Amino acid sequence: MDVSLLLEKADQARARAYAPYSGFRVGAALLSGTNRVFTGCNIENASYGLTVCAERVAVFNAVSAGETNFLGLALVCDGDDYCRPCGACLQVIYEFGDDILVIMGNKAREYQIQPINKLLPRAFKL
Ligand code: THU
Repeated sequence: MDVSLLLEKADQARARAYAPYSGFRVGAALLSGTNRVFTGCNIENASYGLTVCAERVAVFNAVSAGETNFLGLALVCDGDDYCRPCGACLQVIYEFGDDILVIMGNKAREYQIQPINKLLPRAFKL
């Protein structure tokens, strides 16, 4: 997996974030088993509650293109800290595999990697 490329794609997606309310821009890049990369950015809404996170936009983008097998998701946010997915997004990522690698980047392009089952142990399953 080309982690640098995924972080770069996530950062490019971050630049497309629509975040006029929080000012906090997030980008995600999701690598499929077929070696395609699907990106997403956060998309906010005046109603606030209808805001969708970057990770979910990337996952929904990929699934709507016919992909359901994923290897890794890179995430880049504004700020110096490693960017961590929110709980809702962890559950959505987990839906497609318990060993998907989550690459949490910061502005300096440093990163931490953890599999989704470590970030969300005992995830909900039907
Ligand atoms: N956000 C994401 O895009 N991903 C996350 O995992 C957490 C939060 C977005 C939603 C909102 O537009 C902004 O960050 C501030 O919460």
